[in-house]
Amino acid sequence: MTTALITGPTRSLGRVAALALAEHPQVRDVVLLGRAGTALDEVAEQVRRRGAQAHAIGCDLADLSDVRAAASTVRDLVEAGDVRPLVALIANAGFVSPDTRRASVDGHELTFAVNYLAHAQLIGDLTATLATSSRIVLLGSNTYYANFWRRLLKVPPAQWRDPIELAEPAAAEGHLGMTAYSDAKLAILYYAHELQRRVAAGVNVIVYEPGWMPGSALSRSAPPAVQAIGRALGRIPGVATPEKSGPLLASVAVDERWSDLRDGAFVVRDRVTEVQPMAQDRARERRLWEATAELLGR
Ligand SMILES: NC(=O)c1ccc[n+]([C@@H]2O[C@H](COP(=O)([O-])OP(=O)(O)OC[C@H]3O[C@@H](n4cnc5c(N)ncnc54)[C@H](OP(=O)(O)O)[C@@H]3O)[C@@H](O)[C@H]2O)c1
Repeated sequence: MTTALITGPTRSLGRVAALALAEHPQVRDVVLLGRAGTALDEVAEQVRRRGAQAHAIGCDLADLSDVRAAASTVRDLVEAGDVRPLVALIANAGFVSPDTRRASVDGHELTFAVNYLAHAQLIGDLTATLATSSRIVLLGSNTYYANFWRRLLKVPPAQWRDPIELAEPAAAEGHLGMTAYSDAKLAILYYAHELQRRVAAGVNVIVYEPGWMPGSALSRSAPPAVQAIGRALGRIPGVATPEKSGPLLASVAVDERWSDLRDGAFVVRDRVTEVQPMAQDRARERRLWEATAELLGR
């Protein structure tokens, strides 16, 4: 029986995935890393009702000291033998700030900080708690390039810059939040490739894309009319939803079927997909690693 950790379990994709993990026959402990509050307590209760042990750890990913403290709590749980080493670490939490002038507690652009930097901190702090054979699953997004749907919906693709610049809050209005989101998700692809080269043999790094889930809370900052359209689109058959993609995410993290995936393999819903050539770039990947160490004060 094993342990799985997930960030962002309080709603949408992460919540459904956490509950699927709780029902998985091989998972005994589910570590839930989310903002403290009733939603975290409630999902922990639902995990217990499904027969697993829930370990809820309050953590605001916009505050790196909180992330370090949460990682320390997880290490204590493993070292004390309260939970087995992690077989799966799912970096699911995500966020889009429409205003790129907003900064995290540490002064980094908020979207880059929550989606990317906080997870890089967490994973770096938890590598010693991973089981000999384990998976790190990061959440990617096809917004990193200008695919057909993004062009149709006018969602801008990533505009890559040096990571130190990406982490800098905008000085003036006008920088698009969705560009920052796409940059953070491209950073996740680059990070996953570099991480695989640096983790112990036996640790597999995977990037999961749940499909566009228009009804999720990721668009919570959008105008109410846009959110209503999203909810309506989410009811169209074939469109991804947290209910459909959450169990797939849990499966990618723990099921034998996916055990050969590594090197940042990009899984879209339930299919391994080639990334665009620009998402494989050794020079950018190395530079991101160095810049991340600098930003995290390592
Ligand atoms: N929705 C899509 O179409 C789509 C497509 C591709 C990829 N993805 C990715 O899939 C993942 C899940 O997306 P979703 O649609 O389920 O998003 P969501 O409905 O907005 O849920 C996001 C989760 O992240 C947590 N979170 C956000 N900011 C946080 C912070 N500062 N500290 C701690 N937790 C924080 C939220 O916690 P609270 O409940 O406390 O806010 C929530 O649990 C994200 O990584 C997203 O980028 C989504």
